[in-house]
Amino acid sequence: MAIGGHHSPVALKDEWLTPPDILDALGSFDLDPCSPINRPWPTAAAHYTILDDGLKQPWHGRVWCNPPYGLEAAKWLDRLADHGDGIALIFARTETTMFFEHVWAKASALLFIRGRLHFRHVNGQRAKANGGAPSVLVAYGERNAAALRNCGIDGHLVMLDATQLTMR
Ligand SMILES: C[S@@+](CC[C@H](N)C(=O)[O-])C[C@H]1O[C@@H](n2cnc3c(N)ncnc32)[C@H](O)[C@@H]1O
Repeated sequence: MAIGGHHSPVALKDEWLTPPDILDALGSFDLDPCSPINRPWPTAAAHYTILDDGLKQPWHGRVWCNPPYGLEAAKWLDRLADHGDGIALIFARTETTMFFEHVWAKASALLFIRGRLHFRHVNGQRAKANGGAPSVLVAYGERNAAALRNCGIDGHLVMLDATQLTMR
């Protein structure tokens, strides 16, 4: 079963890397706080790994965050929302508590990616199976909302700040 599937032991494995074309389309990042120890390519100018514990470190600048999966992910989304400058890549599980608390309530824009991503292994190879679930890019802060609007990644853009204004 793919990583997004339910009840999969593989879902506990964290080393599913972002396809590099997604990163290329979004521009450069200052920090990836959750990066593999041995990475096939940089995802930002600075990286933290599990050896540093990125949640315990200071965050700076524009942050890229494809977080560890499962219940852990909420802590990273919470931190990124507080930081207020960055983009996360997560599964589009729009009904979950994590999504309601850290995405719907706090993000600036979302890009729901068309189709399913094939993540990369730490050796750089493309996974044979797709991620098994839909993915969404979550922007916090104006410049990251603009990056989602201008990136050219095929999908559907939702500007959340505008939505919140019309709901008030
Ligand atoms: C889904 S992968 C994404 C990797 C990379 N950020 C990317 O976008 O390709 C999540 C990464 O978080 C790392 N990780 C897990 N726990 C961590 C921690 N406490 N601090 C820093 N990195 C951690 C894993 O080793 C894994 O490489």
